[in-house]
Amino acid sequence: MFSIHCIMDTIIKLVSLTLILSTITIICLTIIIPIWIIYWRHVFKNRRKLNKKKNPSIGIFHPYCNAGGGGERVLWSAIEAIQKEYSKVKIIVYTGDLDAHPEKMLNKVKSTFDITLNPIEFIYLHRRKWIEADCYPRLTLLAQSIGSIYLGFEALKSYQPDIFIDTMGYAFTYPLFKYIGGCSIGSYTHYPTISTDMLRHVYRRVESHNNHRTIARNPFLSGAKILYYHLFAILYGLMGSCADIIMVNSSWTEEHINAIWKCPLKTHRVYPPCDIVRLVNLPLLSNAEKGGVIRIISVAQFRPEKNHQLMIRIMYELRSIIKDDLWKNIKLVLVGSCRNDDDKNRVKDMQDLSKYFAVDENVEFKLNLTYNELINEYQMSTIGIHTMWNEHFGISVVECMAAGLITIAHDSGGPRSDIIETQQGSQTGFLAWNAIEYANIIKHIISLSDDDKNNIINAARASVSRFSCETFEREFLRTVAPFFRPKLE
Ligand SMILES: *[C@@H]1O[C@H](CO)[C@@H](O)[C@H](O)[C@H]1NC(C)=O
Ligand SMILES: *[C@@H]1O[C@H](CO)[C@@H](O)[C@H](O)[C@H]1NC(C)=O
Repeated sequence: MFSIHCIMDTIIKLVSLTLILSTITIICLTIIIPIWIIYWRHVFKNRRKLNKKKNPSIGIFHPYCNAGGGGERVLWSAIEAIQKEYSKVKIIVYTGDLDAHPEKMLNKVKSTFDITLNPIEFIYLHRRKWIEADCYPRLTLLAQSIGSIYLGFEALKSYQPDIFIDTMGYAFTYPLFKYIGGCSIGSYTHYPTISTDMLRHVYRRVESHNNHRTIARNPFLSGAKILYYHLFAILYGLMGSCADIIMVNSSWTEEHINAIWKCPLKTHRVYPPCDIVRLVNLPLLSNAEKGGVIRIISVAQFRPEKNHQLMIRIMYELRSIIKDDLWKNIKLVLVGSCRNDDDKNRVKDMQDLSKYFAVDENVEFKLNLTYNELINEYQMSTIGIHTMWNEHFGISVVECMAAGLITIAHDSGGPRSDIIETQQGSQTGFLAWNAIEYANIIKHIISLSDDDKNNIINAARASVSRFSCETFEREFLRTVAPFFRPKLE
C-alpha cells in the first residue's frame, strides 16, 4: 500500500515537472523569442537609418582569420578582389583572434600569401569560445551552431554591415544578420557542417571519428542519433537557404550543400585560389637533364587515407610488365612531411613494405622538404601519382599538373569530377582504380612519343589556370556583383 503510494507520488512529481518545463519552453518560443526578435529588429532598423551612407559596407565573418590555412587564403584573396574592384567600399573583418594586432595580421597575410591589402578594420569578438567543439561533449553540432548565433549577435551589435559574408560556414548566423540586422547575406562554404556522408555512416552503423563505438553498436542509440542528425540537417538547410548568394569550393561541397540547403539556383562553384604561378612557369627539363631516370613523384602526407601502400603495389605490378633495363631507371619518389611518431611509424611501414615487394631499390623517401627542394623534385620528375580514394579535391594533383608532370590520379572524388580530363584530344591526365591499371598507364606513358607527352602536359598546364588566383578573383567578383548593383550605380 505504502509503496504504491510512493510510486504514485513520484509519477505525479515527474509529470508536473515535465508540464512546468514544457510550459516554460512554450512561453519562450511563443512570447519571449518573438518579442526579442521584434525588439532587436527595430533597434537595428533605426541604427541603419541613422547611419545611412553612400557606399555599402561589408562585414566578413571569419573568427579564425589569423590561422594561415587554405580557408584564410580565400578570405584574403576575396578582400583583395573587393578592394580592387570597389575601392570605396568599407570592409571589416570579424575576428576572434584577440591577440592579433591589425598591422601584424596584414603583415602575416603579406608574408604567408603574398597578398598586399589596403587597411581594413577588424572587429574583435570575445565570445569565440562558444563555437569551440571541445566545450561541448554531447550534441556538439547543435551546441556549436547555437554558440555561433551567440557569437554572431556580438558581431552584429559591434558593427552592422550592409552586406554580410561568411567565409567559415557558420550558417546559423545568416537568419540573424538577415532578419534582425537587415543585411544581404553571402556565404562561402568549404565544407558542409553536416553531410549526407555523415548520415550514411550512422545508418550503416560504421564507427568513425564522429560516430562513437558505443553508438555504432547500439541500435537504439543509433536510431536516436539518426533522428538528431536529420533534424539538425533540416535546421542547417533552413539556415543556409537564408543566404542570398552561396558559393562552394568544389563539386563535392556543391553536391552536399545542394542536397541539404536545396537552393541550387543561387549556389555557385567558385574554386579557391591555388598558388600555382611558380609551378606553371617552371621550365621543363629534357630526359638527359633528368639523368635518364623516370621519376614518379607523390606529394602527400604520410596518413593512412593517402594510400601509399597502393603506390608500392603499383611498383610491384609495374616491374612485372616492363623490361629489366627500363625498370632500373624508374624511381618512385615519396615526398611528405613527417611531423610526429605516427608519421614516422607509417614511413617505416612503407619502407618495410617496399622491401617485402622487393622494389625498395626503386623507392625513395624524401621527408620534410623545403619549398625550393620540392620545386626541384617536381622538375626532376616525369609522372605525378595520387592514390587517395574519394579525396574531396586534391590540390596535390593540381600542383603536379601545374608543374608539368603527366599525372595519374585515383578515379574517384575531386580528381575525377573537378580536375582531370581523360577524353582524347583534350586529355590532361589519367585516372586509375587499382594497381594493375596504374601500372599499365605508367607503362603507356613511358611509351608515348615526346609530342604526345607534350600535348598532355600543355593541356594540363592550361587547364589548371581555372584554379589560379586570377580566376578566383574574377569568379568571386562576378558572383557577388548583384550585392553592389543597386547601390553603386
Ligand atoms: C574545400 O574545402 C575542404 C575543407 O577545407 C577541403 O578539404 C577541400 O580540399 C577544399 N576544396 C578545394 C577545391 O580546395
Ligand atoms: C620533420 O620535422 C619534424 C618537425 O617539424 C620533426 O619532428 C621530424 O623529426 C622531422 N623528420 C625528419 C625525418 O627529418
